[in-house]
Amino acid sequence: MEKTEAKREHWSSNLGFILAAAGSAVGLGNIWKFPYITGENGGGAFVLVYLICIAIIGLPVMLCELSLGRHTQRNPVGAFKKITPDSSTLAHLIGALLVLSGIFLLVFQDYGWAVVILLLGFAIFRYSWVVVGAMGVLAGFTILSFYSVVAGWTIGYIWQAFTGQLAFNSVDAAAGHFVQFITTPALAIGCHAVFMLMCMVIVYKGVQSGIERWSKILMPILFLLLLVLIIRGVTLPGAMAGIEFYLSPDFSKINANSILQALGHAFFTLSLGMGAMTTYGSYVDKKQNLFIATLSIAGLDTLIALMAGLAIFPAVFAQGFQPNAGPGLVFQVLPTVFNQIPLGTLWAAIFFVLLLVAALTSGISLLEVVIAYFVDEKGWTRPRATIVFGLVTFLLGCLSAISVTGWEHIEWLHQLILGVFGVSKGSFFDVMDNLSSNWLLPLGGLFIALFVGWIWGPRQAVNEIRQGSANFADVHLFSLLAGLKDDPSHNAPVHVVTLASLWGIFIRFITPVAVLFAFFYTIGWLKL
Ligand code: PHE
Repeated sequence: MEKTEAKREHWSSNLGFILAAAGSAVGLGNIWKFPYITGENGGGAFVLVYLICIAIIGLPVMLCELSLGRHTQRNPVGAFKKITPDSSTLAHLIGALLVLSGIFLLVFQDYGWAVVILLLGFAIFRYSWVVVGAMGVLAGFTILSFYSVVAGWTIGYIWQAFTGQLAFNSVDAAAGHFVQFITTPALAIGCHAVFMLMCMVIVYKGVQSGIERWSKILMPILFLLLLVLIIRGVTLPGAMAGIEFYLSPDFSKINANSILQALGHAFFTLSLGMGAMTTYGSYVDKKQNLFIATLSIAGLDTLIALMAGLAIFPAVFAQGFQPNAGPGLVFQVLPTVFNQIPLGTLWAAIFFVLLLVAALTSGISLLEVVIAYFVDEKGWTRPRATIVFGLVTFLLGCLSAISVTGWEHIEWLHQLILGVFGVSKGSFFDVMDNLSSNWLLPLGGLFIALFVGWIWGPRQAVNEIRQGSANFADVHLFSLLAGLKDDPSHNAPVHVVTLASLWGIFIRFITPVAVLFAFFYTIGWLKL
């Protein structure tokens, strides 16, 4: 055991780790999703709610994941395995509740869901908290399968931008083109394959010379491209309207739905709830200050999301378009916007390269979760795990790729899902997205907070975090903020208001309650 731990590869530098983790967080979530959900939810006020969610849920859960990973030096499954106690009453309770619900569903002849819930209940009984890690690996795999499809579209769009095929005169024309493109299986699957291959090549190379090296190259590029687009956007005549929409909060536009959407997005955008940060944390050495790391990763992620809005809204408003176009905002409205300004092809190409770069550094983190599991737990070599699971993910993604607009090409799967679960909202792509974003991530985040807060215990967790974090955990919060953290007179024997105690309260109470609330709302058990 000791030997394998000593050999585990670590990030070569603090900066390398921060950039890789920020690379995981910054992705399609920031540049594709954040602007369009902000557009749909009325702008500035939504941005404010989103920032609050990042602060009260994102930051505490990220610290849980990083400390869990660094302490155990393992993938998510191994991490839970290492510190799960032999018997956990809380896990038994959750397992029992699930088995009961499963029996209940059987009685109501909802067989598909009954089997899933019963299996999950028994698994929790048998494997206790390790199931949470396994859910993470499963989520990594499912998210990457459809994430790669969207990333593939950006590859197609880069090519088309350079070859002048994105010169649309109306959003309708752009929309027609987009649908035509994503429903041509050869194109969609081909581009998806190229993206998966890129992820595989990087992950194959390992932590330092693959993930870290490429994050160090790609993240500065991303930042620069974004800056260029912002400067172009805000200097267009009429751009002020967009900036106003974006930065002046109108609280009448905020409702329960937007609050919960902001909460769910906080998980997705920070790569939380499925062990990506646990895995990246397992490559961190004891000299890192995890408080600073958490703040930097979340800070960079938020900064890039805000910048993406600033690159998009001023241009959209300046050219007289509406910001509420939904998921098509960046693939349909933006190319049309760019086409109306001089050098449009160039701006479009820059934008889609930016989107690809962002997706790539996230895609590799999703793949890495799966690879780390097979390398740590099953003793596979990295190349073997990368090739096998890259291919498996690719195949699963093909189903999403050919199903974005409906089920016509995979009717058998449709019938299967319909027969077993009795529901069929949206396409297979939507099923995958829904399964991971609305179920696996929030559940995973909830369980991780509960596990660290109540099973591993803040005391143990804080002992881990203390390493490398100077006096951050224990000095009075006011003294810390006032820059007096190293002044011994501020180290009273008992401090009530410290970062450590604040974090403990959050992960034990505030975060789980908030997530549970959002979760029940998402699945329709709670109506507001
Ligand atoms: N955070 C990434 C994004 O915003 C997506 C992601 C989710 C990556 C979960 C890894 C794990 O696009």
